[in-house]
Amino acid sequence: MNIALIGSGGREHVLCQKIYESSLSKKIFCIPGNPGTSNIAENVNLEINNFTKLLKFLKNNKVSLVIVGPEGPLVKGLTDFLNDHNINTFGPSKFASKLEGSKSFMKTICKKNKIPTAKYKTCKNKKDVNIFLKENIFPIVVKADGLAAGKGVTICYNKKEVNRVTKEIFGGKFKTSKKLVIEEYLQGDELSYFLIVDKNSYKFFGSAQDHKKVGERDKGPNTGGMGAYSPAPILNKKLENKILKRIVDPTLKALKKMKKPYTGFLYVGLIIVKGNPYLIEYNVRMGDPECQVILPRLNSDFLKIIISSINNKLSKIKINWKNKKCMTIVLCSKGYPGKFKKLVPIKNLNKIKLKKNIFIFHAGTRFLGDKLFSNGGRILNVTSIGTSFNLVRKRILKTLKKLNWKFGFYRKDIGWKVI
Ligand code: AMP
Ligand code: GLY
Repeated sequence: MNIALIGSGGREHVLCQKIYESSLSKKIFCIPGNPGTSNIAENVNLEINNFTKLLKFLKNNKVSLVIVGPEGPLVKGLTDFLNDHNINTFGPSKFASKLEGSKSFMKTICKKNKIPTAKYKTCKNKKDVNIFLKENIFPIVVKADGLAAGKGVTICYNKKEVNRVTKEIFGGKFKTSKKLVIEEYLQGDELSYFLIVDKNSYKFFGSAQDHKKVGERDKGPNTGGMGAYSPAPILNKKLENKILKRIVDPTLKALKKMKKPYTGFLYVGLIIVKGNPYLIEYNVRMGDPECQVILPRLNSDFLKIIISSINNKLSKIKINWKNKKCMTIVLCSKGYPGKFKKLVPIKNLNKIKLKKNIFIFHAGTRFLGDKLFSNGGRILNVTSIGTSFNLVRKRILKTLKKLNWKFGFYRKDIGWKVI
């Protein structure tokens, strides 16, 4: 079977690896892919938002299955478009993708179905914001309504900050929307919980904990993710039952009732307060870097799972996981998440001999000729799987030391709460 994978980050590198390992895959196209995927797939430099061009390429190359990595094309309706043109596409519909594409949509579903989430108000102007501020105490969280590439959320500690951030959003800083959601701050542990969903059922697809803050001990500004580990030790059967019963089931039921059933990966972003789960966000895709620590633990054929889901037969399969711990540490460009240099050579990578239990996934890299360069804020995801978080972290740090990329930095304390 010819397969196309859409995306170009670390998440797509590990997805590509799993597709490559599947007994069902023949030819893989990664659109646009990255230097990591170019070793196992054919990278195709197409603009992924040009659906018509994409369709032409897929038809010409007899692609029969498309897997979409990032949220952008899902929210724009790529799944609907390709399915309407008879190309099986894995990912939620445009309507269902609003769970991630619009915070106010997600919050309305919560309100209508009594799903536990932070108390909130959708605001269209300063007056709305002031009404919320009068009734609530700081810190307060301000979120742009539409997609904002991980930069749309600010935790505000005083009115001045709220005024600054809300003014930016109303002024159109995030082009996807001028609306915002303002909500109460929840104090607790974060958990990323994943499912694969079809029209009839769903299956657990891993848990992880992500470190979003740039600095050690989770200090400093938010980033796209500095590292993650899986499984999340905080998750137990009792908590999982609460997540499913109070949050996931009512959401999926609500979408079905609107005749818009959810399909694809579902990322449930939670904060656990005194043993009870609160929904912070839905993402309509795998997490990045969570995917890089979940997929190495998968012990079943990845494509067989995806195909079962497309055929709405997930209930018939069993998904097996390795009883192992996995961690990834993100190597970033110095300056990230602020300003950083691009196109800096990465010289040592091909000199490093990787053992079986260590993987390096490419995120922000590119080739110029046959030489590798940095091409973003998050460059490489050094990942390891083994018997304990302590052991895998040691292996990763040793590898990063060997790589010795002087223009980058990384957190040495990923997993500090569990090691
Ligand atoms: P989001 O994009 O909604 O996941 O928000 C990004 C990050 O901001 C989350 O992973 C949390 O660390 C933090 N955050 C978002 N909403 C809240 C909240 N209501 N209370 C506390 N932290 C939050
Ligand atoms: N790691 C956070 C995200 O993928 O949104």
